[in-house]
Amino acid sequence: MKKAAAIAALALASGTAAQQTAYGQCGGVGWTGPTSCVSGWTCVYSNDYYSQCVQGSAATTTKTTTTKTSTTKTTTTKTTTTSSTKTSSTKTTTTSSTKATTTLSTSKTTTKATTTSPPPTGAGCLVTAYASISSAVKSCSLITLSNISAPPSSTIDLQKLLPSATVVFAGLTTFGVTANDDFDPIVISGNNILITGAAGHTIDGGGPNYWDGQGSNGGSSKPDHFIVVKKTSNARITNLNIKNWPVHCFDMTGNEYLTVSGLNLDNSDGDAANSKSGGDPAAHNSDGFDISSSDYVTLENINVHNQDDCVAVTSGTHITVTGMYCYGGHGLSIGSIGGKSNNTVDTVTFSNSQIVNSENGCRIKTNSGTTGTVKNVVYSGITLSGITDYGIDVQQDYLNGGPTGDPTNGVTISGVSFIDVTGTVSSSAYDYYILCGSGSCSGFTFSGTSITGGKTSCNYGSCP
Ligand SMILES: *[C@@H]1O[C@H](CO)[C@@H](O)[C@H](O)[C@H]1NC(C)=O
Ligand SMILES: *[C@@H]1O[C@H](CO)[C@@H](O)[C@H](O)[C@H]1NC(C)=O
Repeated sequence: MKKAAAIAALALASGTAAQQTAYGQCGGVGWTGPTSCVSGWTCVYSNDYYSQCVQGSAATTTKTTTTKTSTTKTTTTKTTTTSSTKTSSTKTTTTSSTKATTTLSTSKTTTKATTTSPPPTGAGCLVTAYASISSAVKSCSLITLSNISAPPSSTIDLQKLLPSATVVFAGLTTFGVTANDDFDPIVISGNNILITGAAGHTIDGGGPNYWDGQGSNGGSSKPDHFIVVKKTSNARITNLNIKNWPVHCFDMTGNEYLTVSGLNLDNSDGDAANSKSGGDPAAHNSDGFDISSSDYVTLENINVHNQDDCVAVTSGTHITVTGMYCYGGHGLSIGSIGGKSNNTVDTVTFSNSQIVNSENGCRIKTNSGTTGTVKNVVYSGITLSGITDYGIDVQQDYLNGGPTGDPTNGVTISGVSFIDVTGTVSSSAYDYYILCGSGSCSGFTFSGTSITGGKTSCNYGSCP
C-alpha cells in the first residue's frame, strides 16, 4: 500500500451517525460515509483505502486507523485555483495536510484486522460449490462465495441477482482453463448491487495457463474479458483482490451510476517472459478497466499493476477516475475512439493519480478515417515517473492498433485540460506529443503542467 498511500485523497470523515450495513464500507482514506456498523457487524481494516463491516464482534484490539498517508496530494475539488502553478499546488498541499491531521484524529472507529479476526463467512447464503451459485443468485440477498473453484467453461454468473443483493468473494476463487476468447469467467449485472470481498480473499484468473506474450492479438485462445460488468444501475464493486487475469480484466459496458473502489489488480506475475512469449512479458493486452457506453462511472483508490492501459475509456459520459496507482502499463487513456459501436466521450476526469514505470502517462488516441466526438476531458494532479513513450499524448492517426503518422480529422477532440500533470519521462520518450488532424482539435489548456526528460512534438497549440 506504500504506493497507494502516496496518492491518497484525504479523509473528510463526517456524518458518522448512520451505521453501515453488512459488507458496506466503513472507513479508509477519502471515505466520508458511516464509520460504524449495524449491530452484529464490526468495522475491520482491509487496507488504507478500505475498511469493511464484517460479521461478528472484533476479536482484536481496536486500533485507530492511523492512515500513514503522506499527504502530498490533494483532491481536485479542493484545488479551486484556476491558475495552478507549481507554487499554488504546493500551497494547497500544506492546507490540506493540516485538514487531514484534524480529520484523521477524529475517526477512531476502524479496527485493524489480524489473524485472530473471525472469518467473515457464513452470512446469508454460504456457497461453497460452483453448482450452488445459480440458485443462491436467484434467491439470496447476501451471498458469500467461499473458495469457489469454477470448472472449465463455467461462468460465475451474477446477472440475475436480486435488487440490492450483496455478493462477497471469500477465500480463493479459481477457474478451470477455458481456451475460448468469448468465455467470460465472471459476469455481473443488476440494480443497487454490491460486489465485494472478505478480508484475505483472492480472485485468481489463472493467467499463467494462457499467457503467451500475445494477449488478444494472437497466439492461443484465451478469455478476452475476465470480469464483465454490464447494464448495472447504482452498483458498487469494492475491495476486491484480483490477480493473473488472462487478457483484459474489467470490461464495463452499458452501466449507469457505477462506483468501483478499493480494488487491487495485480498482474505482476505477467511481467516476466515465459516459455511461450519469445522473450516478451508473458501477459499482454492486460487492460485494468475498459469502459464503454456507460454514464456516471467512478473508479477510485485502485492499484493496477499490468502490461496495457490502466484505464481505457472508449465511450461514455461523466466518468471519474481518481486515486489510481498505475504501474507497468500504458497509463490513463481515452481511446482508441472511432469505428466502434459508440464513439462519443463526454466529461471524463482523471485526477490525483500516479503513473509509474509505464509506456504513457495521459493519452487520447483516435482512429484514422473514422468519426466521433471527444469533449470535456480533464487530467488533473497526475504524477508521472519512469515513462518510456509519451508523458502526454494526443494522436489522431491510429489504424489497426498502431499509429500511421497521418492524422485524420473525423473524430473531434475539444475542451481538454491538463492541470498539474507533472513528472519525468526517459530521454528517448516524449514529454508531449500532439498529432491532430486538420482543425479537429480545439480548446486544449495546460496549467501547472510540467513534464521533463524527453522530446516534444506538437502540431496543435503550444505545448508547455
Ligand atoms: C478457504 O479454504 C482455506 C484452505 O482450506 C481455509 O483455510 C479457509 O478458511 C477457507 N476460506 C473460506 C472463506 O471459506
Ligand atoms: C453511447 O453511450 C451512451 C452512454 O454513454 C448511450 O446513452 C448511447 O445510447 C450510446 N449510443 C449508442 C449508439 O449506442
